[in-house]
Amino acid sequence: MAKCIKDLNLKGKRVFIRVDFNVPVKSGVVKDDTRIVEAMKTIRYAQGQGAKVILASHLGRPKGEKNPDYTLAPVAKYITDKFMPVTFVEDCIGAPVADAVAKMNDGDVILLENLRYYKGEEKNDPEFVKALAANAGVYINDAFGTCHRKHASTYGMAELIHDKAAGFLVEKEIQYFSQLIKNPARPFGAIVGGAKVSDKIGVIKSLLELADDIFVGGAMAYTFLKYQGHTVGTSMVEDDQLNVVEEIFAIAKKKQVKIMLPMDHVISKEFCGEPCACDCADIPDGCMGLDIGPKTADMYIHELNRCKTILWNGPMGVFENPQYANGTFSIARALGGAEGTVVVGGGDSVAAVNLAGVSDTIDHISTGGGASLEFIEFGSLPGIDILDRN
Ligand code: 3PG
Repeated sequence: MAKCIKDLNLKGKRVFIRVDFNVPVKSGVVKDDTRIVEAMKTIRYAQGQGAKVILASHLGRPKGEKNPDYTLAPVAKYITDKFMPVTFVEDCIGAPVADAVAKMNDGDVILLENLRYYKGEEKNDPEFVKALAANAGVYINDAFGTCHRKHASTYGMAELIHDKAAGFLVEKEIQYFSQLIKNPARPFGAIVGGAKVSDKIGVIKSLLELADDIFVGGAMAYTFLKYQGHTVGTSMVEDDQLNVVEEIFAIAKKKQVKIMLPMDHVISKEFCGEPCACDCADIPDGCMGLDIGPKTADMYIHELNRCKTILWNGPMGVFENPQYANGTFSIARALGGAEGTVVVGGGDSVAAVNLAGVSDTIDHISTGGGASLEFIEFGSLPGIDILDRN
């Protein structure tokens, strides 16, 4: 287990905290502050210890270009307006950072400009690592959502800096996901949704080793149903994944994992057109499935209520459209009242529990989408493992 920020002496030190402030920003306004709120505990702690707090993050994928559409300035303003004064520095390396750090008093907080304005970040370029590390005495990783990336700020810096640790956000994510993959209370039910089987193969294969029941929803369910010989109409299907589905069923049989599939649907003749109920697993010609039906939602909820551990990643339908949101929101509400330990990961499922107003009763809402899936698949993440290396 990686060291935690509490294990280090921060007083008067330049503490570089890699956060994941890759949050939705529209017209200069932060639209969802979950990741910011979750990182505040670490930031406040470092500030309270008398550190000079240097926050760094990426935002979006500016591909190594200084593109103002991806500036972190609105995030600095948001934190200043809502939580504490943060000085924004218009670069993440070089003289502007050195000057800003030189002016800092203990307990001050600055936020650097987008790390991905430099190609060296994603390439983990040693020169870029050195330039970042020039302004840091202690390295803290609190960017769980980016710990699956071997980038300069998530990996290279931790290789270079001796005093390093996980922040509280990363520590909490490690605790929940480690428990999930090492010692889950049983039965363990995993709900896997979303559009594509191909995006989730790795995690489904790992879940076949870990879970007792797997509940499939979203468009990926139609590939499973097609494999079973059901008609799927014009639903989204990945024909090139039918052999993968065959393999998944074979492993499930061997491991005695139950794979639950939709038994009814909400369908339409066109994408998000007029909705129509489809009372059985077979979807008629000319129609596409866009949500699980009420019988499926009831059956899934009934089975999930038996589970002592529940993991949810991926929506049950096109929940952005209210006509196809019932399946996803029924599951979200049920998880809000579930007795077992509930872990939710992935942007869409997190949005669903927030919109359903049940986030307060969910045991753990992960700040990582891809990162949480890779943690389950590989048992850890590069950005976490490197914190243990001296
Ligand atoms: C995320 O939002 O999943 C993380 O911030 C990582 O972003 P990335 O997929 O652009 O590396």
